[in-house]
Amino acid sequence: MNDSNTKETVSITINSTGETIELPILDGTQGPQVIDVRQLYSKTGMFTYDPSYTSTASCDSSMTYIDGEEGILRHAGYTIEELTEKSSFLEVCYLLLHGELPNLSEMQDFERTITNHTMVHDQLQFLYRGFRRDAHPMAVMIGVVGAMSAFYHDSTDISNPQQRLIASHRLIAKMPTMAAMAYKYSIGQPFVYPRNELSYAENFLHMTFGVPAEEYSCSPVISRALDRIFILHADHEQNASTSTVRLAGSSGANPFACIAAGIATLWGPAHGGANEAVLEMLSEIGSKERIPEFLEKAKNKDDPFRLMGFGHRVYKNYDPRAGVLKPAAYEVLEEVGIQNPLMELALELERLALEDDYFVERKLFPNVDFYSGIILSAIGFPTSMFTVLFTLARAVGWIAQWKEMIEDPGQRIGRPRQLYLGHAERKFVPIDERN
Ligand code: SDX
Repeated sequence: MNDSNTKETVSITINSTGETIELPILDGTQGPQVIDVRQLYSKTGMFTYDPSYTSTASCDSSMTYIDGEEGILRHAGYTIEELTEKSSFLEVCYLLLHGELPNLSEMQDFERTITNHTMVHDQLQFLYRGFRRDAHPMAVMIGVVGAMSAFYHDSTDISNPQQRLIASHRLIAKMPTMAAMAYKYSIGQPFVYPRNELSYAENFLHMTFGVPAEEYSCSPVISRALDRIFILHADHEQNASTSTVRLAGSSGANPFACIAAGIATLWGPAHGGANEAVLEMLSEIGSKERIPEFLEKAKNKDDPFRLMGFGHRVYKNYDPRAGVLKPAAYEVLEEVGIQNPLMELALELERLALEDDYFVERKLFPNVDFYSGIILSAIGFPTSMFTVLFTLARAVGWIAQWKEMIEDPGQRIGRPRQLYLGHAERKFVPIDERN
């Protein structure tokens, strides 16, 4: 962070003492300015209080820009619409890791490198076999990705730039293999080895749906749709799981352990777990006639039910990723020849919610998770795998953000403070003297 990036200041006056301090205002290249409060405590003895980070920029980054009011998402300046139309997931991985699109030979080298790393250590299969077959695949993913630090010691020295890059390549390359293995294990089929002549998405489909007994082939429409889903999920600035990866990484923990922490955070239904929850919700609603009943439940503060796949901390407009996914859902449904009643239900739910004052006033729109599950289920993935696919794609965002943080010369361990509301000091009372 360039500390000379200060033109304006803000003054804070503490009314009780009349003391005034000046704090610098920092400009980003785009987006809201930020008040630099780093000196606040040393100057006033006070902290800022923002438990869910609604007004806090936790870091600076050059990777992803979101304008939530306008519904804009860009990676290194390129819009998500253009990237999903013209790019590929692997090219976006390169963009996130290096900040620039690759030229032809850089892209060929990158593809070759990723392809070289698609297999996992043979011993890793025994880790899978230690899990119950009915374990949720996200639970398995937390375990196996964390265990990568036990298998790939030669890429865990975070002070070595080459090792940081190898760790990033290994993660991107092995995520599809490990995700497909989690699926195969859950259905009792043998693990299928990667095939390096296939594209990233095709290879994942092959390892997931192929069997050793026969050749697997899939339609280019499906593999392209999956590749686009991966692009849409690749990075999303400082969301809960990415912030977790950064905080874990700030202590100097190895990259694979940090990614496992990110996976754990993504699993929650308020975050990546929502794609699974959307399909469960649509199945529970069951018919168009019951939508008003569920809208009422979502609006009722005494009812814990919320409309899954709706609302977003940052987007107060249509999530641009949902905008790409909606037509993609039609494309995939047409390709597989399925009349999916859940798609009809989702469209009607969206229509009615967007006409309802409650959702309009709160600017609650469909988010990335609303339509992704419909596509994934049409491709043949069970709901329990939806968040695993999110994990597979987001891994690049996590590792790229981790790398950006480690490479910041001013990086220090993250250590939030608190507003203490507990007891002041009191005397210990022996147990036989307590009431
Ligand atoms: C992801 O942050 C990211 O970037 C995440 C993500 C990424 O790519 O990394 O985009 C991925 O996590 C997408 C979000 C997936 N989650 C869901 O779809 C779950 C359903 N959505 C919500 O639970 C909620 O909208 C959140 C968690 C997404 C956002 O929570 P916030 O920012 O804390 O919103 P809020 O609770 O402050 O909501 C504001 C108001 C509240 O009502 P009031 O108290 O003001 O009356 O809107 C209401 C909320 O009760 N509200 C909803 C609602 N979401 C918000 N009411 C009904 N249904 C909903 N879904």
